[in-house]
Formats: sequence, C-alpha cells, structure tokens
Amino acid sequence: MKVTTKLEDIIESSLSGSTIFKRQEVLTPEHIPSRLPHREEKIKELTVIFRELTNDPSSTSIRVVVSGPTGTGKTVTTKTFGNLFKSKLKERGTKIEYIHINCHRQRTLYLLTMELASNLKLPIPVRGLSAQESFRIIHDYLAKRNIHVILTLDEFDYLINTSPHEDIYFLVRLYDELSSTTRHMSYIFIMRDEQNVSTLDRSIKDHMMRNIVKFEPYKVRELKDILTDRVSEAFQPNVVPEETVDYISNVYGHDKGGSGNARLAIEVLEMAGKIAEIKNSPVVLMDYAKEANSRINAEAGEILEEISYLELHPLLILKALINLYNRLKTSSIQIGRLEKEYRDLCQELGEEPRRHTQVYEYVKRMKLMGILETQQSGRGMRGRTTLISFSVPISQDLESLIIKNLRMKLDNKEDYV
Ligand SMILES: Nc1ncnc2c1ncn2[C@@H]1O[C@H](COP(=O)(O)OP(=O)(O)OP(=O)(O)O)[C@@H](O)[C@H]1O
Ligand SMILES: [Mg+2]
Repeated sequence: MKVTTKLEDIIESSLSGSTIFKRQEVLTPEHIPSRLPHREEKIKELTVIFRELTNDPSSTSIRVVVSGPTGTGKTVTTKTFGNLFKSKLKERGTKIEYIHINCHRQRTLYLLTMELASNLKLPIPVRGLSAQESFRIIHDYLAKRNIHVILTLDEFDYLINTSPHEDIYFLVRLYDELSSTTRHMSYIFIMRDEQNVSTLDRSIKDHMMRNIVKFEPYKVRELKDILTDRVSEAFQPNVVPEETVDYISNVYGHDKGGSGNARLAIEVLEMAGKIAEIKNSPVVLMDYAKEANSRINAEAGEILEEISYLELHPLLILKALINLYNRLKTSSIQIGRLEKEYRDLCQELGEEPRRHTQVYEYVKRMKLMGILETQQSGRGMRGRTTLISFSVPISQDLESLIIKNLRMKLDNKEDYV
C-alpha cells in the first residue's frame, strides 16, 4: 500500500509542472520559431527572387530551387518566407496564397494535386479525373479569381526519384502544357541535393535551376545562436548553463567536423532537459547533453562497441584519461598531461610507452572513430593547447569496459611471451 502511494507521489509531482521546461513544445520539429538566426539572408534572397510578383503576378511564374543538407533550415525558412511574403502582398492588395506540400507524404502527382485542392478548399471530384486534368481545373479556378499560388514542393528529390518523369515534366513545364495566357503558379522546389535533377532532361533542368538558394550546414557559432534562442523560450530561467549549449554546438558545428544539423542539435538539447528532469537535477548539466547525444546519435551508441576493437596502447591512453578524470574531477585534459599519465601507467604495467608522435596519432584516430573529442584551450591558459575528453559521458560502464578490454589485451600478450 505504501509503495503505491509513493509511486503516486512520483506521478503527481512530475505532473504538477516542470522545473526544467517552460514551454517544451518549442523544441518540437513542427514549431516555427519567431526568429531564424543566420537565415535572414536566405529570406532576403527569396524575397528578391519573388519580387516580380508584386507588380503583375499574372504575368509571370517563378521557379526556385532551395537546396542543402538535412537540418539546415530549408523547410522552416521557406515556410516562414512564404507566409510573411503572402501577408505582405495581401496588404498591398495582391491575391496570393502560399502552399507547402511535402512530396514524401503526398507521394504521387495525383495525391499532390488533391492536397493542393484541399489547401485551396476547392472541391474536386475524387474519382474519374487524372492528376493532369485535376491540375487544369485548379489552374482554371485560380485564373478565374486571379489568385497566384506559391507552391512549395518539399523533399522534391523524393518525387524525382519515384514518379514517372512525365509527371515531373508536367509540373515543371506547366505553362507549356496549359493553354493559359496568364500565370498563376510559382514553385519552390526543396531538395537535399540539387544533383538529383541530373536524371531529368536538360530543358527541365534549365526550367528549374535558374534560381538556386543554397543552404550551408551550420557552424558552431550559428548553432549556438539557434540553441540559445530555444533555451530562452523552452526552458525555465537559468537551468541550462552556457557550457551545455557550447558542448552541443561544438559536437554538431560543421566547422568542427560535425554535420551542421540544427534538428539534431535541438533534439539533443531537449533530451538533455528530459534527463535532467528524470534525475531531479535543477540544471541541465553538460554531461546530460553528452548522454543525450550518445542516445540520439546512433553512431555514438556504437562507440562503446568500437572500444573492443582497440589495440593495447590506445586502450592505455583511454585508461589514463579515466584515471585523470577520477583524480582531478575534470573531463577535459591537456594532451601533455594525458601523455604523462599514460607513460606512468605504462611504467606501472611494465609496458614500453609509445613515442610522442604515435600517441598523437592514436588520439587522432580515436577522434575519427568518435571515441574522443579534442578542443583548443581558450585564453587564460599559457599558450594554446589541445584538450582531450571522451565524447560519451564517463560512467562506471565505460570504465569497466575499458578495464575489461585492457585486461584481455594484456593477458593475450602474456600468452605470446
Ligand atoms: N536558423 C534557424 N533558427 C532557428 N531554428 C532553426 C534554424 N534552422 C533550422 N532550425 C530548426 O532546426 C530544425 C530543422 O530545420 P528544417 O526542418 O527546416 O531543416 P531542413 O533543411 O528542412 O532538413 P531536411 O532536409 O531534413 O528536411 C527545425 O526544428 C527548425 O525549426
Ligand atoms: Mg525539410
């Protein structure tokens, strides 16, 4: 009976509001933030391209390709542009609609056309018409009411790779297909890789590729600004220390070898907050971000597995790093300090230490494997030096795993002697 009450308490106290989050929904992928740090220029580029529509929208049809790797803000920036541009033009008396369709969800020209009709609240007979015929009906409707639609086809790569090319040609060459004298449809094609159009006819490519807006992977500094915005909107005041945000930005920043993916960075931030909550911690520690990162990043999950493939001396370096952590209670260690600890450890075990350059090689390799992270020390330390840390949280499990593998390697060695 007592147990039940205790469990009830847990649920009760966790339901009664979060000490970590203020508005957790701000961290979901669907949330459209009020600011888009480092994408203002892309909004400007798009505006300049679409500016022609302000004069006489029925005289022109604009096509733009928005391309860039995953998580670089293509969807959120295009949606934000579309909606703002639409309201601005409406203020000026132009009848314009912005419609954003994901081609991965609406997988065929037919489904896409139905989605377009439903966005325009246009009843179209469900059966009996081909996609092309339906599209014509929609266009007639727009022409009659003098409405211009900016249609974004998100994840357009998907359509190119799965739909018959006639369907793609129909969409892109719309005004060669329709005998319409006025233009009521402009397109934004969002793609991860604009090379995907290379399978299409040259004429189509020319039709599409006149305007390309490229999105680059985010740098450390840029991710930091994006995350800082989300921290202030989604979290309670002062619960996320700067070093946690720095850690995530450094892992994902493209200039530090990360993917530059804002989606993953935000996901790690949210997961770190959840871990803090579960552990009843009043702050989102950097270690929770590390743990979140290793949970989210499938590769990081495999890091522990990688350790069992390491040779004796890289393992000794890892053990030296753990020893220093246990002694100094700091997870970032200067490389010189690490090397000294490694030598001491070798001596203790009667192993010949590897030379300086070889130690650096091992560190570099373990960085590439994702086991270690390196960072340049900031100001305040004499000279600049490289700081080494584990890319996963230092836990009892990690330590046991390293010791177990180390023992195995040392034992095998004795067999050889
Ligand atoms: N500049 C930015 N400011 C604020 N949030 C951003 C910014 N760029 C991206 N995000 C956020 O990062 C996440 C990923 O962005 P988005 O979905 O737009 O990426 P994408 O380029 O469309 O990726 P994919 O190719 O995988 O579809 C979203 O939650 C988005 O709100
Ligand atoms: Mg997207």
